[in-house]
Amino acid sequence: LKFVCYSNDGVDEHMVWLIGLKNIFGRQLPNMPKEYIVRLVMDRSHKSVMVIRRNQVVGGITYRPYVRLNLHSLNISQKFGEIAFCAITADEQVKGYGTRLMNHLKQHARDVDGLTHFLTYADNNAVGYFIKQGFTKEIHLEKDRWRGYIKDYDGGILMECKIDPKLPYTD
Ligand code: ACO
Repeated sequence: LKFVCYSNDGVDEHMVWLIGLKNIFGRQLPNMPKEYIVRLVMDRSHKSVMVIRRNQVVGGITYRPYVRLNLHSLNISQKFGEIAFCAITADEQVKGYGTRLMNHLKQHARDVDGLTHFLTYADNNAVGYFIKQGFTKEIHLEKDRWRGYIKDYDGGILMECKIDPKLPYTD
């Protein structure tokens, strides 16, 4: 079992994993248009943390890091990630992969991207999962950091997670 984080960087092997992941999103997120899923998964400003087992993608999270500094010349930086899609393939759900995936995402986002928070529009039926991963419906992040940057999405509830600055999330 391994956890990797790739974007569409022209490496063949990364592309194979990203295609596997977009197929899982296509099946697990039936309300999302397929073209929209492909567009974001293959977009170079998005990254995907994936669980790979026996050379197969089991699931993943696609997110966009926002890292602009001195936003609006106000000396505030963004440093948050927007989670676009999150799913585990049907026959591997509720086995703990979703939790381990989120922990790897937090570790990577903090240590590689320098992020402090995540935001996501959670589907109603996934709110319970996000709460277990430390997300809240209260948004503490200053509006200046995110308003106008993340896409409004009717079918979901905006949720936030603060990334602990020190905690080891993975072993
Ligand atoms: N509602 C409530 N609790 C849940 C849900 C849920 N939909 N899914 C998992 N949990 C709970 C589990 O019971 C478990 O609780 P426990 O620790 O007390 O036992 C905990 O959350 C973690 O469970 P995992 O096994 O780690 O979760 P899993 O591997 O199944 O991954 C996920 C969760 C990603 C939601 C998966 O079930 C899935 O792909 N669902 C379908 C697609 C989906 O809804 N994705 C999210 C849409 S929102 C978005 O993408 C931004």
